[in-house]
Amino acid sequence: MASVQNSPSAARPLAISAPLLRWYDRHARELPWRVSPADRQKGQLPDPYRVWLSEIMLQQTTVATVTPRYQRFLDLWPTLQDLAAATQEEVLAEWAGLGYYARARNLHKCAQVVAADHDGVFLNTAADLQKLPGIGPYTAAAIASIAFDEPAPVMDGNIERVMARLFAVQTPLPDAKPELRELAAQETPNKRPGDHAQALMDLGATICTPRNPACALCPLSDCCAAYKQGVAAMLPRKKKKAEKPTRYGAAFIIRRKTDNHILLVRRPEKGLLGGMLATPSTDWSEKPATTPQFPCKGSWQKQEGGVRHTFTHFHLMLDVWEAVVSPKAAGPLCGQWHETPLEAGLPTVFRKVFLTDR
Ligand code: ADE
Repeated sequence: MASVQNSPSAARPLAISAPLLRWYDRHARELPWRVSPADRQKGQLPDPYRVWLSEIMLQQTTVATVTPRYQRFLDLWPTLQDLAAATQEEVLAEWAGLGYYARARNLHKCAQVVAADHDGVFLNTAADLQKLPGIGPYTAAAIASIAFDEPAPVMDGNIERVMARLFAVQTPLPDAKPELRELAAQETPNKRPGDHAQALMDLGATICTPRNPACALCPLSDCCAAYKQGVAAMLPRKKKKAEKPTRYGAAFIIRRKTDNHILLVRRPEKGLLGGMLATPSTDWSEKPATTPQFPCKGSWQKQEGGVRHTFTHFHLMLDVWEAVVSPKAAGPLCGQWHETPLEAGLPTVFRKVFLTDR
């Protein structure tokens, strides 16, 4: 750290907000959950329900993926009360493919808590928002800042990168996180904090990008230590991650002889993909799969290819077995029969079970 210019220990506020907001006023992305800076200045307030919904969806998911899904969510459930009145199965089915399904369960729980305990009105400080299901410190700060203009420092991957470069922080991530959070806090203005946060997000997404940052176009290059040192593209540094382990298992396509319908089951509430629909499957183990124990009698055929899927902490390889079964053999199986399983709201790993191009 000693050789670092503008190191956090010596950090002084850079007053980035004025040039950043000038840039944002001209270049803000148009996003469906966003009130444009022009409309915001005219007094239009964001709808906290929409801000909250978008922030939950944007956790671990890109703007490009979220945009159409956000719109569908809003079409189905235009208000918090509508979402609170939905069933968890409906919400999980609509979330299918977005991953990190605890977010969907907590989203639904949060809507029910706000509807039941707070008259459907969102709490309006970062400290209170954090008490609600699924809202951690980052999301609370983002909602409080964007929806209520509280100067709560917002932090996400984009903003971490911007701070690491502005201050040429050499500490690798994730160890650098507390330093970067402190720097973001120090730079958060009392005026227009919501637009400031969104401007940093946009700068990180469009100019201060992970590879090949467009420093020539950056409104902050004059005060960027990494730019001055010619090291912007090299920051933030990252600790090498441990290799992900691989787990193995089998998934079963059970086809009912009488009508070709497919059996789907609901996974237990707790654990990975909790509460989501799935094909019947074995547990996932560290040992490569052998011939599994089949869930019912049938002429089981192993399908070509199998499924490969990567979760946050491990790779998964599933053998896929298929059988046409008689209603009698299928009798004891618990689940629902689906004519078109790909339309049932399966998470991606189980959608892959039905795709030939897995
Ligand atoms: N990523 C997380 N929150 C965001 C937001 N409000 N706008 C754009 N990208 C985001």
